[in-house]
Amino acid sequence: MINPHGAESLNPRYVSDETERRLLAAEAEALPSIILSSAAGANAVMLGAGYFTPLSGYMNLADAMSVATEMHTVDGLFWPVPVLNMTRDISPIADASRIALRDPNVEGNPVLAVMDLESVEEITLDQLDVMTEKVFGTLDESHPGVAVFRDSGKYCLAGSIQVLNYSYFADEFAGTFKTAVEIRDEIRERKWETVVAFQTRNPMHLAHEELCRIAKERLNADGIVIHMLLGRLKDGDIPANIREACIRTMVDVYFPENTVMVNGYGFDMLYAGPREAVLHALFRQNMGATHLIVGRDHAGVGDYYGPFDAQTIFDEIPDGALDIEIFRGDHTAWSKKLDKVVMMGEVEDHSPADYITVSGTRMRELLSEGVAPPREISRPEVAQILIDHYQIGEEQTAVGE
Ligand code: ADX
Repeated sequence: MINPHGAESLNPRYVSDETERRLLAAEAEALPSIILSSAAGANAVMLGAGYFTPLSGYMNLADAMSVATEMHTVDGLFWPVPVLNMTRDISPIADASRIALRDPNVEGNPVLAVMDLESVEEITLDQLDVMTEKVFGTLDESHPGVAVFRDSGKYCLAGSIQVLNYSYFADEFAGTFKTAVEIRDEIRERKWETVVAFQTRNPMHLAHEELCRIAKERLNADGIVIHMLLGRLKDGDIPANIREACIRTMVDVYFPENTVMVNGYGFDMLYAGPREAVLHALFRQNMGATHLIVGRDHAGVGDYYGPFDAQTIFDEIPDGALDIEIFRGDHTAWSKKLDKVVMMGEVEDHSPADYITVSGTRMRELLSEGVAPPREISRPEVAQILIDHYQIGEEQTAVGE
């Protein structure tokens, strides 16, 4: 089986021994504490679940700057996106060496993790600019990831953590939220060797489905892990519980049994395009996948990235930086001429008019009016779930966001 990143075995920071966890939770109540930003909370969940192996906690400023500019820590560990705990107010933890990290996304802000505080550093505006520019490729505050990244406070808290729970993900997405440890174990049990991971923050339309099918066939893979993002998205994106229902229905109806695992991970979307694609690959290696599908505008938003920048970045990273490989998906759409979904770069004699495509905006209009998108775009079962969602009202069905 593929090795975790930079380690022989996973480094899940979740305290799995129940007695130890109870003692730690009791200790945490007496510690000075801060309420985490949502991004830092998501980092804790990823560290807890082993996805961020071999890291043990949050990076200090030197590592974060090195990761942003060179894509490796000061010690040389390959890493594409800083793993930070930035905060606004350090007065509650002045002089403390061990602190409790409280969950911003659960009522009452229960303790999510305990941290050994190794350093508290103030990040300068110049440093923040460098990091933002390197990771997101822009300083534009109207980029949804940039806005969140720059609004988390100027203090950088570094140190290792022990994680007490998986925030709201374990309860709200029971059966779908899985740790890297669990997914690795399941892949081993299934005796899958070649495993394709599919990252998604969408309900999976026909193009997504076919991309998975094509990748599995061409790689002669044993199975697909559809690994959906369960954390925060920007306004207007479809809530995770609705996406989950769409994906499960699509898999049940259209994929042979025992060829697809549907799982999710608790992380907020960064919309960092190429850098996020590399992070996506890294943590899919940790969960045991040998390949990650990277298609058109992977993890992108608006026009900030070229449609295939998230693929070409993999040509620039050092050989051997990751063991996982990517499966490059070209723009995929239904061809009227060939009566099937194709990758545009692979067919001849096609002009844009030969494809059926529907923009996101048009899709939302159709669904809100109770009209199913064409069958060449969406499976009818998936369309019905989305119509119900849009018709009942987005607010009532939104969960966890
Ligand atoms: S993402 O932000 O999580 O990447 P999304 O869920 O839309 O967004 O896409 C999941 C994966 O499918 C990504 O690798 C993306 O590049 C790919 N993808 C989505 N739609 C298409 C398409 N029409 N053609 C090619 N690749 C696509």
